Amino acid sequence: MQSEEPRLSVGVVKEAQAGERRVALVPKAVAPLVAKGLRVVVEPGAGLGALMPDELYVDAGAELGDAWSADVVLKVAPPTPAEIGYLSPGSTLIGFLAPRNAENPIEALRKAGVTAYAVEAIPRISRAQVMDALSSQANVAGYRATLLAASLSTRFFPMLTTAAGTVRPARVMVLGVGVAGLQALATAKRLGARPTGYDVRPEVADQVRSVGAEWLDLGIDAAGEGGYARELTDDERARQQQALQDAIAASDVVITTALVPGRPAPRLVTAEAVKGMKAGSVVVDLAGETGGNCELTEPGQVVVKNDVTIASPLNLPAEMPEHSSELYSKNLTSLLDLLVKDGRLEPDYDDEVLAQACVTRLTPTES
Ligand code: NAI
Repeated sequence: MQSEEPRLSVGVVKEAQAGERRVALVPKAVAPLVAKGLRVVVEPGAGLGALMPDELYVDAGAELGDAWSADVVLKVAPPTPAEIGYLSPGSTLIGFLAPRNAENPIEALRKAGVTAYAVEAIPRISRAQVMDALSSQANVAGYRATLLAASLSTRFFPMLTTAAGTVRPARVMVLGVGVAGLQALATAKRLGARPTGYDVRPEVADQVRSVGAEWLDLGIDAAGEGGYARELTDDERARQQQALQDAIAASDVVITTALVPGRPAPRLVTAEAVKGMKAGSVVVDLAGETGGNCELTEPGQVVVKNDVTIASPLNLPAEMPEHSSELYSKNLTSLLDLLVKDGRLEPDYDDEVLAQACVTRLTPTES
C-alpha cells in the first residue's frame, strides 16, 4: 500500500515585537486553506493581540502547536535572529522582511536554508493588488494618522455653527499622497476638515480631488520608477521648501507620508516651517522609521516644539489590529494561492510576482 504524503503545513506564529498586535492569518481564513488540503498550525496565543482567541482557530479547523516548524510560516514583522533559529531548513517564510533596510534578515534566512517571500517586494501591478500588503497596511496608517491628528489638536476639524459661536473647519495639509496620504485626506474630509494634498507625482492630483481635497501645485514633477517618486535635485528641493513653508503656516494640521524607496525620508517640514505654524497646531509624521519628513520629528515620540505637537507613530496598523490583520491575512492567502498547487508548494518563478517577492531561495542543488 502506498503511504499517504504528509499534508503541507502552514504555521501562524505569535508576533514578539513590542506593541505588535497583528496576526498574519485570521481565523476566518483557516477553513479555505484546510479545504485545499493544507494543515494550519497556530502557535497558542498568536491571535490574542488582535482579540482572536485560540478557540476560534480550532473551531475553523486549525491545530494548536509548534507553528515555527511548519512547511510555510506566515508572519507580520521581520523575524529576529532567535526566530530564524526556530525555522526548519527547507521551509518557507512569508512576511514583511524590510528588504531595502541595511539591516534585514535575508542573509540569515539564506544561511538557515529558508526560502523567503518579502511582501514589500511584490510588484505594484493590477494582478497583484490583492496581495499588496504595503497598500492594505498603509490604508490603515493613513486613517489612524488623521484620527491621531484630530485627537491631538486643540481645535475642531469640522465647521460648527453653535449658539456660542462659529468655528471654522480645520485646514489639513497632507504631504506625500500615496496610499496612506490619500486615506488620510479622505478621512480628514469625512471629519469635516478642509484637506489639501501635495505630492511630487503630478498624476496624484486627480486622486486628491476625487476624495474632495484641494491639490497644491508646486510645478515639480519627480515621478520615478514603478509608481514611486525619485529623490529631488538640490534646486527642486530648495524651491519646494520655500513654497511649502507658506502652505504649512496656513495649516492647522500637517500629515506627512512622503517616502522614496531605499532613501532617507525627504525633509518637507523644516524647523523654520514649524515655527511659522499657529500654536496648538499638529504635525503627524508617518516617515519616522526612515528619519522623518519633519526636521523636529523624534521617531516613535510625541514632542511639543514652539507649541506645535509633533507625533511620529511607528506602527499605526498595529493599533487597529482586527482590520489590519484581516486585510493582511487576505494578502497572504492570495500569495499562497499562487504558491500552492494541488496541496503542494510549486512556485513558478516565471511569474513576475513570485520572482520579485522571493528574496532568497534554495538553489536546485541545495534543495
Ligand atoms: P510611498 O509610501 O513610497 O510614498 C508616499 C508618497 O510620497 C508617494 O506618493 C510619493 O510620490 C511621495 N513623495 C516622495 N517624495 C516626495 C517629496 N519630496 N515631496 C512630496 N511627496 C513625495 O508610496 P505608496 O503609498 O507605496 O504608493 C506609491 C504609488 O504606487 C501609489 O500612489 C500608486 O500609484 C502606486 N500603487 C500601485 C498599486 C498597484 O497597482 N498594485 C498598489 C499601490 C500603489
